[in-house]
Amino acid sequence: MTVMTEPVGLARVLRTNGSVRAFRAEPVTDDELFTVLDHARFAPSGGNKQGWRVVVLRDAARRAAVLDLMEGVAREYVALMRDGQRPFGLTAHGRWPGPGSVDLAAARAETGPSIVSPLRDAPVLLVVAVDTGLVAAMDAELDRHGIVAGASIYPFCQNVLLAARLVGLGGVITTFAVREEPAVRTLLALPATHAVAAVIALGRPEKQASRLTRNPVSAFATVDSFDGPAFG
Ligand SMILES: Cc1cc2nc3c(=O)[nH]c(=O)nc-3n(C[C@H](O)[C@H](O)[C@H](O)COP(=O)(O)O)c2cc1C
Repeated sequence: MTVMTEPVGLARVLRTNGSVRAFRAEPVTDDELFTVLDHARFAPSGGNKQGWRVVVLRDAARRAAVLDLMEGVAREYVALMRDGQRPFGLTAHGRWPGPGSVDLAAARAETGPSIVSPLRDAPVLLVVAVDTGLVAAMDAELDRHGIVAGASIYPFCQNVLLAARLVGLGGVITTFAVREEPAVRTLLALPATHAVAAVIALGRPEKQASRLTRNPVSAFATVDSFDGPAFG
């Protein structure tokens, strides 16, 4: 089952695939979702091990439970931001220094709408996990936080978001649920071999971005050394 709608130029998709957090109240068909995943599976992964697993959250209670877990973390995130921190941001040595004086438990206990609230209306929620036995971490012995293991799963997530455009969908990748991995594991019967990588919300965008805020190439590319002349 493959659904194709009008093709959108790749360059246009790359340049406008902004996060969508507000969705029209229209369902996403199984055929559409299948098409998204069927294209996404061509993502690269280390050794082509394709360690991804996707749980399509349909059950209302499970969906709400995952969103509740995400919401608690989102409240922590916002509290850290309010404190002037870069939430869960790594230091120059690649470690998270901790919350400082912010009371994360109190933040979690806050009520009212949160930045997760809009995702409750997303027609599709995908929990993306990865088999850690199938990812290579070339930075495993470096004295900093691991980065490379994620490189075998996040290209797949990005493919989901790009492929969504093929069928008129949009969405957002979120990682709040990862902080609650033990609870998500229990809830979704995720084996110990699998790590939660992301929760992706998809649906028909209320509004598709036409312009994204990104730095120019010259701000991040240099020639021959990190401090070499700007490229481009
Ligand atoms: C690893 C990762 C985690 C993210 N987590 C969240 C999230 O938890 N909630 C959310 O609303 N957006 C999340 N985003 C989306 C970013 O906020 C978004 O990509 C960025 O701000 C750029 O905004 P734009 O897509 O609107 O241009 C995440 C993006 C990435 C790559």
